[in-house]
Amino acid sequence: MKVAIEGEVRTLVAVWFEDNVVKIIDQRKIPESVEVFKARNSDDIAFAIKDMVVRGAPAIGVTAAYGLALAKMNGEDMESAVRKIGSTRPTAYDLFKAIRYMKENNYDMNAARRYANEISGRCRKIGEYGNELIPENGKILTHCNAGALAVLDWGTALAPIRFAKMEGKNPFVFVDETRPRLQGARLTAWELAQEGIDHAIIADNAAGFYMRRGEVDLVIVGADRIASNGDFANKIGTYEKAVLAKENGIPFYVAAPGSTFDFSLKSGDEIPIEERDENEVLFVNGKRLGPEESRAKNPAFDVTPAKYVTGFITEYGIYKPSELSQMKAKIERDLFM
Ligand code: MRU
Repeated sequence: MKVAIEGEVRTLVAVWFEDNVVKIIDQRKIPESVEVFKARNSDDIAFAIKDMVVRGAPAIGVTAAYGLALAKMNGEDMESAVRKIGSTRPTAYDLFKAIRYMKENNYDMNAARRYANEISGRCRKIGEYGNELIPENGKILTHCNAGALAVLDWGTALAPIRFAKMEGKNPFVFVDETRPRLQGARLTAWELAQEGIDHAIIADNAAGFYMRRGEVDLVIVGADRIASNGDFANKIGTYEKAVLAKENGIPFYVAAPGSTFDFSLKSGDEIPIEERDENEVLFVNGKRLGPEESRAKNPAFDVTPAKYVTGFITEYGIYKPSELSQMKAKIERDLFM
């Protein structure tokens, strides 16, 4: 996807290393502007992940990988760098996968580049496999942003839709706005607009309306962490979309690379769920929504039980929750994993 980044037209990549800094497309600014945040040390990297300059599980992992390589180049204390970066966002498993990978590879910059290339290539495969599920003129509902910005270039949930568009299938996307951070309305809609993919932003609570009217052919979402039994964490609101899909007989797919699967967890009950600042709920564009006296609660993710998942679209193929042990065997033989 080509976009104008600070005035220069380039292929969109969410994070990269250049001129001795980690460059990150600042997702807090999209769609108003496309700006680059420059991280010069592990403090900047930790800030960028925590403050959601960069977000989306695989992109968080790639940022951590580059960040640790940068910290090593800077001569920083690596234990402290790992601690800082590792304590930013607890739910996204890719963060911990990337830290482990970098530790095993001595925090080498070439290893970070390899990590980024692997993730990108794997998401392209997700696009190829997932495309087979999308019918001609298919209408897909997605939640949050699991596109190029959340990964690097192809995305996970959006990758199959991009392949469908390239094949001339004319997909249409219902984009949940995704309160409170509005990743759908701001980021997914922006990506789809750049690609010329037909879409409409809908209020989060409108999904059931369209599902019941038979207007949604399938749902594809990303994931932040997937447990051995197929329960998975994704952006808050995913669970209710999955329940609604099942109730209405609509296939519900989760697109994610192997780096998001945490086979050390038996079920979704063990996934740590990030709680974010209440002000993300209380304020919109700096304006307080409710009375001064009101507090808010802000869980960033929810867990969807495996029984609602039709299949996981991965770089190894598409697996039902009951087939995840086959996927585990593939991961165990995969040298990158
Ligand atoms: O809080 P965010 O924006 O990092 O949450 C992102 C999601 O929930 C995505 O769906 C998930 O990370 C998959 S991204 C390919």
